[in-house]
Amino acid sequence: MRIGILGAGNMASALGTHWARAGHEIMVSGRDPGKAAALADKLGGRSGTWAEAAGFGEAVLLAVRDDGVPQVLAAAGAAEGALRGRVLIDCVNAVVPGAFTLKNAGGPSVAERVAAAAPGAHVVKAFNLCHEDVWRMTPPVFDGVPLLVPLCGDDPGALHVVRALVADLGCEPVDAGGLDRAGLLEATMAFMVGLWVRGADAQAVVPPLKYAFGAPASR
Ligand SMILES: NC(=O)c1ccc[n+]([C@@H]2O[C@H](COP(=O)([O-])OP(=O)(O)OC[C@H]3O[C@@H](n4cnc5c(N)ncnc54)[C@H](OP(=O)(O)O)[C@@H]3O)[C@@H](O)[C@H]2O)c1
Repeated sequence: MRIGILGAGNMASALGTHWARAGHEIMVSGRDPGKAAALADKLGGRSGTWAEAAGFGEAVLLAVRDDGVPQVLAAAGAAEGALRGRVLIDCVNAVVPGAFTLKNAGGPSVAERVAAAAPGAHVVKAFNLCHEDVWRMTPPVFDGVPLLVPLCGDDPGALHVVRALVADLGCEPVDAGGLDRAGLLEATMAFMVGLWVRGADAQAVVPPLKYAFGAPASR
């Protein structure tokens, strides 16, 4: 598959490395063309402008800092329909540094804003919950259990594509609802990071599935 990556930083590198290894064709774009070209070289792909990467990808990964998202989508031609019919994967987090709250609390999620700025794109929220180093693992498996990657999106075809891209990492996808639930994924990330920086194991705050609806013995 052809994958366009908007962003030439850590997430672009981490996810792009897996996808290049899986045989996908990659085009990287960034605000620093030299940095984008260097990453593209590393991935065995090519680099281009924001608009070229958006036009190249059957799937497009949006991996820029949240404050750059509107400008990047505009430069990609999203408002003019450049991403119409394409799978647009949004991994962006908009967290207030130090406070671990959401910049957009009470308003639309980042993913919903992305969808509004990119008419016709099939937006899927994914890959926002883990640190780049986890995404670089080959594979991200903990105690023998592959990382579960929740996906929020509305288009069945796009979800099908992103499930396969998750599997390329050695992870397992799980459908987590429509794009209207993407804000929950964004809030989950902020909440978990808030625990992690306090030294708490965020994974340990929820019980195993068999206890999720009460103790098995009491049911
Ligand atoms: N890193 C993680 O562990 C992680 C995990 C999950 C989700 N995320 C999310 O993934 C996204 C990318 O994170 P990252 O770690 O890859 O960030 P990064 O390493 O800082 O790279 C971000 C990319 O966005 C570009 N950029 C930054 N501000 C911009 C602006 N105002 N206009 C245009 N381009 C801009 C950067 O360009 P320059 O290189 O020129 O600065 C770079 O190409 C973020 O939204 C982040 O919240 C990150």
